[in-house]
Amino acid sequence: MSLEAIRYSRGTLDIIDQLKLPHESTYVSIRNSKDGFDAIKRMVVRGAPAIAIVAALALAVELTSLPTIGSSAEDRRGFIFEKLDYLLQSRPTAVNLADAAGKLKRIVIAEAATAEEVTERYLQAAEQMLVDDVQDNMNIGKFGAEWILQSAAGGKDKVVVLTHCNTGSLATAGYGTALGIIRSLHFGSNLDHAYCTETRPYNQGSRLTAYELVHEKIPATLITDSMASALMRLKDVTAVIVGADRVTANGDTANKIGTYQLAIVAKYHGVKFVVAAPTTSIDMKTLSGEDIEIEQRPGREMLVVRGPRVKEGGGEMEVDLEHVETVITAAAGIGTYNPSFDVTPNELIDAIVTEKGVAVKGPDGSFNLSRFFLVAG
Ligand code: MRU
Repeated sequence: MSLEAIRYSRGTLDIIDQLKLPHESTYVSIRNSKDGFDAIKRMVVRGAPAIAIVAALALAVELTSLPTIGSSAEDRRGFIFEKLDYLLQSRPTAVNLADAAGKLKRIVIAEAATAEEVTERYLQAAEQMLVDDVQDNMNIGKFGAEWILQSAAGGKDKVVVLTHCNTGSLATAGYGTALGIIRSLHFGSNLDHAYCTETRPYNQGSRLTAYELVHEKIPATLITDSMASALMRLKDVTAVIVGADRVTANGDTANKIGTYQLAIVAKYHGVKFVVAAPTTSIDMKTLSGEDIEIEQRPGREMLVVRGPRVKEGGGEMEVDLEHVETVITAAAGIGTYNPSFDVTPNELIDAIVTEKGVAVKGPDGSFNLSRFFLVAG
């Protein structure tokens, strides 16, 4: 099965349907911004960097199918702005989409004589985002692995890590952020073992991260979210590594619900807590995590699970794709509370790993994230 979440060539965009993973690897065609919006909202694609790239490329595909005669550069810019503003409404917490939309708007505002030139500028910039994200993740993997070995491993050359949600190839353009660090540790023969949480209620851990770990033959074990404290008490966990949907100027980090409790448990057990995120996830305009809008998801996600039946007469994990069912797992009538993300305060975070380097707290206890945005010269 393929781990390529996004397949793009100019004029066509296909994305892996993450709602069907890990049992089926099928691709969905995205022809315009409406398809992109729906795929993001329904979580066919998810993960902060992947959301941004799919949104940008969905509009790229739409633009390539537009006739240019009769429409001015000004009209084309107006069209692009309108569609980007629409895409921005899909999911609120991850900042990568807002970051991408802002960059794309700035690029098309620049002088262009024709609508075709405006489109060409947009296409080149959106396509570059796909390329840059993979390279950024490889750098995050390298910097993160180095930092963990130097600053968390206590002289050991093999580490044990715990991760949450999915931050791998499926959540990005490729390689992954937190999972990219785990990959780099593994490729460098420095990974003893990786644990991944199930990540209720949407199970990004058991469905997607576990799938990537098995696919890559990385030594790994699945735990339920409620086992994290016991794991940190009983196993020699070196570091917890998570991704981010938004890191604010002070280092507070919004990520998948459950991240905050992992950070508290890590602090109690003296385990290093590492956030891995490209600088496109850093929102310097928002000062602290209190100002992050947290997406509330439908309560139904907590009440049901969807998946194939176990094959009659087959082994325990043999799937019967003829029978995919939604099963109710909660008592009818119970209320629900389903925030999709939580905010981990900066004091619980030891390192923020970006493609430009690793930020740790200075003597005053603050992260200096603005250094990643200094323009040289
Ligand atoms: O609701 P999701 O699946 O989009 O949430 C994903 C996460 O919280 C990830 O940890 C985060 O986006 C980082 S992905 C590199």
